[in-house]
Amino acid sequence: MSMLVLGASGQIGAYTVQDLMEFCGEKDVIASSRKMANVKKAMDDLKLTKKVKLMEIDAHNVDKVLETIKKEKVESVVNCAWYQTNLGVMEACVKGGATYTDLGGFFDTCLKQIDLHKKWVDAGVNATIGLGSTPGMTNIAGAAGAKKLDSIDKIDIVCAWGNTLPVKEAGWPGYSIRTVLDEFTQESVQWINGKYEKQKILGGETDVLMPEPIGKVKAYYIKHSEPATMGKYLKAKNVTFRIGFPAMDMNTFLTLRALGFADEKPIEIGGGKVSPLDYLTAMYQKGISDGRGAPPKEKFEYDIFRIDCVGKKDGMPKTATYFIVTWNDPERGVSSARDTAVPPAIVAHWQHTKRIKQAGVFPAEATVEPEAFFKELGRRKILVDEQITTATKYY
Ligand SMILES: NC(=O)c1ccc[n+]([C@@H]2O[C@H](COP(=O)([O-])OP(=O)(O)OC[C@H]3O[C@@H](n4cnc5c(N)ncnc54)[C@H](OP(=O)(O)O)[C@@H]3O)[C@@H](O)[C@H]2O)c1
Repeated sequence: MSMLVLGASGQIGAYTVQDLMEFCGEKDVIASSRKMANVKKAMDDLKLTKKVKLMEIDAHNVDKVLETIKKEKVESVVNCAWYQTNLGVMEACVKGGATYTDLGGFFDTCLKQIDLHKKWVDAGVNATIGLGSTPGMTNIAGAAGAKKLDSIDKIDIVCAWGNTLPVKEAGWPGYSIRTVLDEFTQESVQWINGKYEKQKILGGETDVLMPEPIGKVKAYYIKHSEPATMGKYLKAKNVTFRIGFPAMDMNTFLTLRALGFADEKPIEIGGGKVSPLDYLTAMYQKGISDGRGAPPKEKFEYDIFRIDCVGKKDGMPKTATYFIVTWNDPERGVSSARDTAVPPAIVAHWQHTKRIKQAGVFPAEATVEPEAFFKELGRRKILVDEQITTATKYY
């Protein structure tokens, strides 16, 4: 009985296959993407070609995904292709009786996925969605904080990254360039006083103190799925999501937006037609693929998350703060983007082994046991620090 990874040629999908094989001990994994050459190169780079089955599958092709689930006796699907494929892949999974996880649906797709809950309950199958670093680890940290509190006033999430190179080079976004440009062109929705509230693009500028080597960073509201689900599932009054971009990356993304690279309308170049967004995506995919062949030999890049859960316990103010830090792993030659690839592997493995089995569609905060999950992260040197502060008031 096998597992199917869609989008396995991508920055995240390739490392998800690697984690399933090397840490989760899965033996029967199908690695697929739209182009055989791409997925083969990714698996060659990770020296996994002989251990996995390679297939060419377009995740938009629901019939093909369903046919594969049936023919290959797939029990669990991990969708690491772009989030626009999530709803179609879920349709194939629920029909074929395979569990489902993915890397997140941005805000709107995530809510449409949750709306499918009853269909999945009726089919008796589990879908746990939004399992990367953020969304994903951030939701699970929120769930851990919720367990320490009787009531939650707010959960504030901040994501930041960077590198320690002496001359600050432009870093790779640790996630799809298409999603970066979505973030720079769409208003965010935050969960404020128990309601969704739209915010202007890059609004909510706030100084946040992150662990070293970042220190103080300016962070901005970004459209993300944590505020879509965590307020409701964890009964928090407010849930916000911000990114503290390294200054160099922020300027690069603003320039790409200003040049029109977020535009999906094709333009004519040298007799051919291509949209600026597709062109940029192809360049990004090539860069990721080329970089995977020559992994850095030292620790130099990091992703850091801060999740503050603020509320009350036994009538007194209490805060549970989680810092999650991931460096690139020079020994295994894996970039810091591994923090996004590991969570879907852990959760898909837990679905496959029936450790997660509730029928229905859930966000990560509803089905994943935080402490066991954090220990799994620790095995991969993804470090979670929990800091609790309590106040006692004598009045
Ligand atoms: N939750 C999180 O923390 C988090 C973090 C990072 C990324 N993400 C999300 O995860 C998704 C993937 O990100 P990424 O950084 O890995 O992007 P990426 O490097 O661009 O990889 C996506 C891969 O999916 C494949 N693909 C695209 N469309 C496909 C389709 N219709 N069927 C099958 N495969 C398809 C592409 O390969 P081929 O051209 O070979 O098909 C590509 O290699 C994005 O939506 C991103 O927003 C979430």
